[in-house]
Amino acid sequence: MKVLVTGGSGRLGSELLPLLGSTTDVHAPGRASLDVTHRASFVTAAVDAAADVILHAAAYTDVAGAERDRDACWLVNVVGTRNAAAAAEACGAKLVHVSTDYVFWGDRGGYAEGDTPGPVRNYYALTKLVAEEAARRTARHLIVRTSFRPRQWPYPRAFTDLYTSQDYVDVIAPDIAAVAANALAIEDEVLHVATERKSVYELARRRAPDVQPASKAEAPVALPDDVSLDVGRWRALRAQLMTPGGRA
Ligand SMILES: NC(=O)c1ccc[n+]([C@@H]2O[C@H](COP(=O)([O-])OP(=O)(O)OC[C@H]3O[C@@H](n4cnc5c(N)ncnc54)[C@H](OP(=O)(O)O)[C@@H]3O)[C@@H](O)[C@H]2O)c1
Repeated sequence: MKVLVTGGSGRLGSELLPLLGSTTDVHAPGRASLDVTHRASFVTAAVDAAADVILHAAAYTDVAGAERDRDACWLVNVVGTRNAAAAAEACGAKLVHVSTDYVFWGDRGGYAEGDTPGPVRNYYALTKLVAEEAARRTARHLIVRTSFRPRQWPYPRAFTDLYTSQDYVDVIAPDIAAVAANALAIEDEVLHVATERKSVYELARRRAPDVQPASKAEAPVALPDDVSLDVGRWRALRAQLMTPGGRA
């Protein structure tokens, strides 16, 4: 199976490439040869690669920067995903689009795939939600909502009152690689790929035992209470894929 990956130099993409390379034929052109905002070069790359799957992980991810430069964020996240959809249509590929838990408001947590998203808390989240709708325009698509942190906890403190199902990128990436490798056989249109609900402090302590507890009330921006995703559907699917005769 041939997989065209965008965003291969990013935090998630750089974890995904070696994982995907062991089971699929991966093409991961960098931005210099495949700028996702240029439709023609995206379509050409997909057709030349004869892609069966386009794993679209490229995005404008600077949440604070997006408030200052909305045009740049919209161009990469919305126009770039429209172009990914056009590229998938052009070569008959399935589009696996990487999205975020930020499409939910984050007041109650436990969000399932079918729950109504929004309202959103920032411009980045708005573009990611609109991008999901762009991805849905493709005949065959799979929207993967996820959330992850770098391999090492980067701060001295972590919030005890903010709940999430995110995990470290090296924990999440193998699951997303498995989704991509099995994408043609997955019937769902949306999948939540994350781990169990926990506080951000609890997550931080796993890799930074000395991290200090803090409250999100101290943060300079308003933060949600609970953005955790219901990952039951992915857990069931993963168990099925891992069974003898399964596909993963
Ligand atoms: N980080 C998180 O916590 C988080 C949470 C939920 C969902 N996500 C989603 O997960 C995906 C990957 O995020 P990440 O954290 O790995 O992102 P990242 O580290 O910021 O990397 C972004 C990637 O997109 C590429 N890119 C940006 N603009 C491009 C353009 N015009 N043309 C081609 N490539 C372009 C970058 O290439 P360059 O190296 O050339 O800049 C880089 O490879 C994104 O869809 C993001 O929205 C992230």
